[in-house]
Amino acid sequence: MKTPNVTLNNGLKMPMLGLGVYQTRPGKETEQAVIWALEAGYRHIDTAAVYKNEADVGRAIRASGIPRADIFLTTKLWNADQGEDAVLKACDQSLDRLGVEYVDLYLIHWPVEGKRKESWRGFEKLLDQKKVLSAGVSNYTERHLEELLGSSSLVPAVNQIEFSPFLYQKKLYEYCMRRGIQLEAYGPLTQGKKLDHPAVQAIARNRERTAAQVLLRWAIQHEIVVIPKSIRQERIQENSQLFDFSLKAGEMETLDGLNENFRTCWDPTDAP
Ligand SMILES: NC(=O)c1ccc[n+]([C@@H]2O[C@H](COP(=O)([O-])OP(=O)(O)OC[C@H]3O[C@@H](n4cnc5c(N)ncnc54)[C@H](OP(=O)(O)O)[C@@H]3O)[C@@H](O)[C@H]2O)c1
Repeated sequence: MKTPNVTLNNGLKMPMLGLGVYQTRPGKETEQAVIWALEAGYRHIDTAAVYKNEADVGRAIRASGIPRADIFLTTKLWNADQGEDAVLKACDQSLDRLGVEYVDLYLIHWPVEGKRKESWRGFEKLLDQKKVLSAGVSNYTERHLEELLGSSSLVPAVNQIEFSPFLYQKKLYEYCMRRGIQLEAYGPLTQGKKLDHPAVQAIARNRERTAAQVLLRWAIQHEIVVIPKSIRQERIQENSQLFDFSLKAGEMETLDGLNENFRTCWDPTDAP
């Protein structure tokens, strides 16, 4: 089934579903997961320099025979590589490992204090050089975004943050929507930790869907891009079956009500 796109603030189209490869081991494991995802119809892969599997992602894309232009590829700048010049070098290294001439989206992985403004200037150059088609950020709070928008006219295309009904960051979500910054959810499955929650299970039973599909569909209906990770073919397929059903208003409300600030990953709230 074809994945719908969102249109980013630079006009580029981004598939609403991608495969995440955090904690997917370099080598065969990553290569196989990406191949299964592409076979299942995914056209969007989310990796990062720090995941150490960019080369495997690139190899899988080439092996698939799918034209590069048909795949939306994201990678991320690691913290140690922040700074205007360091960014340029780090991006070249990621492109080399991936074996591609450009990425569709390059993200600042984390708002490193004292470096992020400089790094953003590096991102402006990468856009000019067409090595990066869209520039975005990750783990930015409203405070970090305000700082960025106050110092640059380049509005991030995307903010990738942890997001699920159990971490419903409504204020940040609305802030990004107002400013044309596309929200992208990592940890959309709570790394599997809340799939047995009774309210999620009840909705899944009623809709004859799985709990994972319910969590992903909830985000999609909020117009948020999702990048669930799996290394298993049946789950990769399951996680892609999101566009032939909808949650009803009451079900969305129930899920909206589950917030408990539950995080599976790092917390940028107090990042200076
Ligand atoms: N920007 C950042 O700082 C940041 C941080 C974290 C993650 N991310 C990105 O976001 C992606 C997704 O987040 P995530 O990997 O942390 O967590 P996630 O996608 O919420 O959950 C992945 C976990 O759920 C399991 N799973 C997947 N599909 C399932 C299903 N249908 N039923 C039951 N369990 C299922 C996976 O196990 P199996 O693999 O065994 O199936 C894995 O343990 C990452 O891969 C990465 O690309 C970005």
